[in-house]
This record gives sequence, C-alpha cells and structure tokens, in this order.
Amino acid sequence: MHKNIDNIRQEFLNFFKKKGHEIIASSTLIPDNDQTLLFTNSGMNQFKNIFLGMDKPLFKRVTTAQRCVRAGGKHNDLDNVGYTARHLTFFEMLGNFSFGDYFKNEAIQFAWELLTDNNWFNLSKNKLWVTVHICDSESYDIWIKQVDIPNEHVIKIGNNTDNFYDSDNFWQMGNVGPCGPCSEIFYDHGDRFQGGPPGSLKELGERYVEIWNLVFIQFNRQSNGHLLSLPMLSVDTGMGLERISAILQGVHSNYSIDIFRKLISSISQITQVNNDNTNRSLCVIADHIRTCSFLIQDGVTPSNEGRGYVLRRIIRRAILHGKKLGINDIFFYKLVPPLIKYMQHLSDNLREKKDFIKKVLFNEEKLFEDTLRKGLKLLEKKLVLLRGNVLSGEIAFDLYDTYGFPLELTKDICLRHGIHVDQVKFDQSMLAQKKHAKESNKFYIFNKNISLCNILSTFVGYRELTYRTKIIALFRINKPVNKICAKEEGIVILKNTPFYGESGGQVGDSGQLKTISSLFQVTNTKKYGQTIGHLGVVNSGSISVGEEIIAQVNQCKRRHISLNHSATHLLRAALYQVLGTHIIQKGSLVNDQYLRFDFCHHETMTEVQINTVENIVNKQIWINFPIMADMIPIETAKNDGIVMLVNKQYEKIVRVIRMGNFSAELCGGTHAKNTGEIGIFVITKESSIASGIRRIEAVTSITALSVIHQYKKLLQDIFTSTKSNNKNILSKIYEFKSRCQKLEKEIEHLRNQQIIQESLSFIKEIYYIKDVQVLVKQVENMMLNPLTNLIDCLKRQLKSGVIVLINVNKNNKISIAIAVTKDLIENNRINALNLVRLIINTLGGKGGGKPHFAQVGINNVINTSKISTKINYLLHNIL
Ligand code: SER
Repeated sequence: MHKNIDNIRQEFLNFFKKKGHEIIASSTLIPDNDQTLLFTNSGMNQFKNIFLGMDKPLFKRVTTAQRCVRAGGKHNDLDNVGYTARHLTFFEMLGNFSFGDYFKNEAIQFAWELLTDNNWFNLSKNKLWVTVHICDSESYDIWIKQVDIPNEHVIKIGNNTDNFYDSDNFWQMGNVGPCGPCSEIFYDHGDRFQGGPPGSLKELGERYVEIWNLVFIQFNRQSNGHLLSLPMLSVDTGMGLERISAILQGVHSNYSIDIFRKLISSISQITQVNNDNTNRSLCVIADHIRTCSFLIQDGVTPSNEGRGYVLRRIIRRAILHGKKLGINDIFFYKLVPPLIKYMQHLSDNLREKKDFIKKVLFNEEKLFEDTLRKGLKLLEKKLVLLRGNVLSGEIAFDLYDTYGFPLELTKDICLRHGIHVDQVKFDQSMLAQKKHAKESNKFYIFNKNISLCNILSTFVGYRELTYRTKIIALFRINKPVNKICAKEEGIVILKNTPFYGESGGQVGDSGQLKTISSLFQVTNTKKYGQTIGHLGVVNSGSISVGEEIIAQVNQCKRRHISLNHSATHLLRAALYQVLGTHIIQKGSLVNDQYLRFDFCHHETMTEVQINTVENIVNKQIWINFPIMADMIPIETAKNDGIVMLVNKQYEKIVRVIRMGNFSAELCGGTHAKNTGEIGIFVITKESSIASGIRRIEAVTSITALSVIHQYKKLLQDIFTSTKSNNKNILSKIYEFKSRCQKLEKEIEHLRNQQIIQESLSFIKEIYYIKDVQVLVKQVENMMLNPLTNLIDCLKRQLKSGVIVLINVNKNNKISIAIAVTKDLIENNRINALNLVRLIINTLGGKGGGKPHFAQVGINNVINTSKISTKINYLLHNIL
C-alpha cells in the first residue's frame, strides 16, 4: 500500500527529529520584512537573517514543511504549470537546516539514508543521480567515497556563462542575500519517459526529475555581484513534497498523487468537465486554486501591483483555462470547499477564512468578466480604425497587460477579421516589462555595516526614560569611527538604552545624549538586527567611543506614542468583533500625532460599523483596564490564541500585552499603564489603500480633543456663512440643493430653446450630395451636451440625411460630431464610422462611436476654416 502525502510529510519530519532537529512550523507565504521577495519560495526564507548572522538561532538544527509559492520574482514557475508533470506554483518544501552546525558531510549522509534506507523511503539506489558544482570537490568526494551511489551517477556541473557560480549548482535566494554551491538529487522515472541524466543534452526531458536540493550556504551576495563569506557555514535543503510523493506512490506526475487526484475529481464534478486524466487545464485549475486560496488566507488580495498583481494573474489564468474547457459561469470560488476538505491539515486558518476566500475569488472573477468585455470592446474599436492588416504588438501587449487578454485570444479575434498581430513588437514589450520587473526585484540592506557589526544593545526603555550608560560604537556615513565632532551627523550605539528603536509600526524615540561637555541630539532611533542605533547630530562638544553618557528620551513624545500604540491594540480587537475574524493586520504606524492601521477587508466600512468600533474602543478606555506586559513561551501564546502577526518568526519566549479580557497581543512596543490614560479615541478616516486593504486613521487623548475642536469650529463657520444653526442646517442645505437643481433645469431649458432657434437657421444650409441631404456646419465653443442636443434636434427635422458639426474650441482643438439617419445606414449609403475613419486618415486625430453617431477629436489644427471643405469633399467620395 502506498503512503499518503500526510504520512510522507510526517516521516520526513520524524527522520530529522531523530537526527536532533527541532520541528518548526511553516512560515506564511508573505515573507517577513522583505519587500522585494514576492512570496516565500523556499524553506530557508524564514531563516534568512540567521544565515546572514544578523539574528541568533534558537536551535542549531531545524526541520520544516514549508508552504511555498513560485510565481513572479526570481523563482517563477507560473508559465510551466500545465506543460510539465513536475511544476506547481504552490507546493510544500520539506527541508532540514543547520545553522553553523553540520555541513556537507552530514547533510549528504542524512539525505542518502532517508531516501534509501529500508526503514524510511527505501528507494532503489540505481534510480538516484546527483549533481555537484564543478568546483565543489569536497561534495564530490563525499558522494563518491562515503555514499554507496553508483559512481557514474555523480555528475559535475559547470557554469552556464563566464560568470563564476552562474550555475544550476549554485543556489541563491534572490539577487542579493544568502547563497552557496549545491548538490541536487534526481530520480530516474525510467525509460518510459523521454530525457537524459542531468548535464546531458537531453536533460530537459521528463525522465530525470530533481527531487532534493542540498545547499551549502557560505556567502552573502551583494548588489554589485560580489560574494562575501559569511561568518558561519550552514546547510539549507529543500525537497518537493509533491515530487517525492509521486515517486513513493508509483506515479510520474505531481498531478497524479493522492491529493491532486481527489481535488481534480471534485473540480470535474463541480464544473461538469470530463476528467480523462490528461486534461491540462484541469491540472492548471487544481494548482491555481491551491495557490490562490493560500495566498488569500495569508493576507494577499488581488490588486494591480506587487503580490496582489501576481495573485490577480493566477486567478485570471485559471479562469481562462476554465473558458478553454467551456465553463462560462463564475466557477473558481466554488472550488474552495473541496480544497479545504483535502488540505485542511496545512492550516487551521483555511477553514476559518473560507467565506472570505470565496468572496475575494468571486469578486475577482466577476471583475475579470467585466474587464474582458471592456478589452474586447477596445480591441474591436482598434480593429475598426485599423489601417492595413497588422495589429500593433504594443496594442496586443497593452490588452495582455491591462486587460489580462492572452495573446492567443487577441490573435484568434484578429484572425476572424483577417488581421495579424505583430508578434515581434509584442515580444519586445514583454521583454521590456520583464526587465523592469527584474530591476525592481532587488533588496538592499541599508547600513549593512551596522547590521553586521553584531553588537547587542539592551533596551531598558519599558521602565526607564533616563539612563546612565556607555557609548560602545559610533558610525559616520555607515563607517565605524571613534569620535563624532560638533555639528557632525552620525549614529550612536549604546550598551543599554531607554530609546525605542523603530519597529512593529512604532516610530523610534527622539531625545538627547549628554556628557558633561557635549550634547548629541537624537532625531530618530532605529534597529539594525540586534543593534539599536541613535541617529542625530552633535550639537556641542564631541562624543567618543567608551564615554559615559546620560540618555534622555523625549518624555512627552514617548507618552503620546505609547497612548496611540495601546489604542491600536484596542482598535484591532474592536475591528475583529465588528467586521469578523478575517481581519489580518497589513501594516501599522504609531507616532505621537496619530495611529494608522491597515488590514484586509473587502469592502468600505459603513458609518454604523465605524461608529460601533469607536464606541467599543472608548468603552474599553473608560473601563480603565491595567495594561499588563508578560513574557510567556510562544507555544502558550499559540495555544491561548493570542493575536500575533501572521508573517513573523517569533522567539521562544515572547512578550504579550493584555488589556483586561478585551485584548491580548504579542508586541514589543511601549504602552500606557492603564487604558484610561488614552482618554478618548476618534477615527478620523477610513479609506482603501489597495484592493482588499482598508486603512483606519485615528487620534487619541489631547490630539483627539483638538480634532473635535476643529470639527466644532468648522461647523460654526458653516452656521455663520449659511445663517443657520444646528437645528435648521440640514433643511437649509436641502433647500440650497433643490434651488440649484431648479436653476440648472431652467438654464438647460433656455439653452435648448436657443439651440432649437439656431437649428432652424441651420436647416436653411442643407444641401444635397446626389440624393442625400447633407449639413456640414462649423460651430464654436459648444459643450458636449448642447452639441448632442443640437445634433438630435437637426436629425429630427431632417428625417433623412447626414449632419456633421465641427466644433472649434478656443485652443484650436476641434471635435467633429457626425450623425447619420437610420435609413441611410440600412441602405448602406453611409455610416458614421466610415466617415470617422476617412477623417482620421486625412486629418489625423482620434475617434470612434457607433454607425448612427460618431465623433473625432483633433488637436492643434492650424487652419480651421478648411475643415468643412475637406469633409465636404470626403462626403462626395463616399456618397
Ligand atoms: N533553498 C533551496 C531551494 O529552494 C533548498 O531549500 O532549492
């Protein structure tokens, strides 16, 4: 009997537990503190700072089953999904990690034992092949001498280009960051499949599949390409759970393993599409529903940039595959329940967020339908106005990029009109966009010298705001120095400090560092790994490393920051009560002026919801709970359901902030002593900052009072200027409004009267071209509404004919409105769009419309008087 995927995952973790590894939970798909890594794409991401030596590891050996997404960014498999048996955009990566503990020898031995020992995976040794980097003779020797793999199965792989370590056997997380040579393990699925061993000419086939990558992390790649040696040698391995499951379940494709078989069968039932086991589109949809559901669960929502944009593309790709299968209804969201049924083991959140995930997918699919419709309309418009029979590649790319129109679809539609698409220009635009994306996919470590100086500063500022301590390091322009002189800027590192380093949304403190003869003004405080840096300028005297100083935090500012921070906790708990449990914090800012809280929510909050949240928070303030800080084990925090950030790796012992029974949150920030100190809480703004993400801004205490005063003053000014009071202001406003409407109507009526008068005089200018009545007339500075009214009025009087009004604006901008009566269109005599096309061909400009009414706009016309003559001439040609 084959092992199921859950057994396989557990066996891997158990094996490494036996080898002294701590089992750590998967982090979320949104990497913590890493703006340029789109998604967690490998087991090692959550340990990046440990590899770099910036954080201390809690355990020297750990093992994980990490959920990963490889779509967008450096490791991107999106376009392969559906075309190979082994690529997925969402997968689980099984990994074992050593942080400065074991290195190549044990890593290779462990891997071999797990794969081949008959107590574990028991794979045939003849089926396994490995690669090593050509310069990594140490790994090569271990495989050849210490492991009983056939020698000819160990293959040395060189570099792809002249660049050293540009190789499949050199792994790096991104353009910068931890990296090192690697040894990859492949499985031979047998000669039923095409392809050759790695390194051979046929290596791209499907026969030999990479299953495990053992990376020996020893460098930190810099943005200029240089490799800096890291202080310790580490190991990062990653094995695709779905790939090893395919092998252990005796199948070739990932899509044939237990979980995918069940999922695909449910999808085929729901969509009524026949599942003949070879249907690529069903596989794509199955892959994409996993990716999209987990991304939404982890807080990504569709949008036009960054992570949200990638999610949007994946959803659209799934929907287009649905269309390929003939599914015309909105269907993607219906796949969430079966997914949850088969993948619940991965995350409790999935079930909890079910309704939210379904709603996001439903809304997005509906939006895409509208977008497709708009794109189609745009394409048709372009086709009407097209000169020649080639559609520009830029237009096709725009349709692809803006409307999610796949090139194939554009080509299909064009073909029906006998038009080709300029593929070369399309490819060029695509390349340019990819280059742009690559350039923005870089992350930098600011002040890296400070990050890597690895000094531990102790924060004493929860209790103390003034503290006698010692300067242990100084930096000027990111370089360590011994002294900073008067008027010079720099960064001071203290042994102990009461200054809070900006983190967790709370801004850094400001204040002063004083010795008997000098003063350093601290304008901001930041964290660099474990180091707290005081940024500022020497106001008088000079300061030197080793000197004793008194560190004094600006107390008033700190107090207001703390009040706002405590209020943010109350706000979060209130939102959870009022809006639901899908609220995930997406960001926050707490300073001495106000607080800002960003969270996932799919719609604008109603006035009632905002008021309810405000009421709840104020009630908790007035209860005046003591605010307690405790240090507890992370496991206890998890079991107690204490609020924590989803994308953060916490220490073993964590700090929890409690406010009565109302709020308990993990937090390193500073807080008030009692909720009552917050005084009053007022929401000043609720807005959207990205699709699916709302932002609340609020104020507390004295700032809240001054906001109330401002509102009062504003109201008073309105009363004075409208000669009203709080009893009659609303009725006054309604009165103003209805008076305005009445006046507007009267004006409109008068304008129409005037137009009818004018049109009567225009009628006299009608002439015939052949048997068709024609009126070509120049008017000046008319707005769109009167212009269309005038044209309608003329059309009614004319009964049959063509009317062209040339509206000349002040800056020689011309808009031409063309109306054609129905009979002429039906008899194929003339159509407004044909005339538009001719006008654009001869006079330039842009335009469009329908057969009975169309418009053209032309900028910067030099000689406006000639336009009527030219149009007249064109009409003669057509009629
Ligand atoms: N980081 C390596 C990879 O993703 C091994 O985990 O392949």
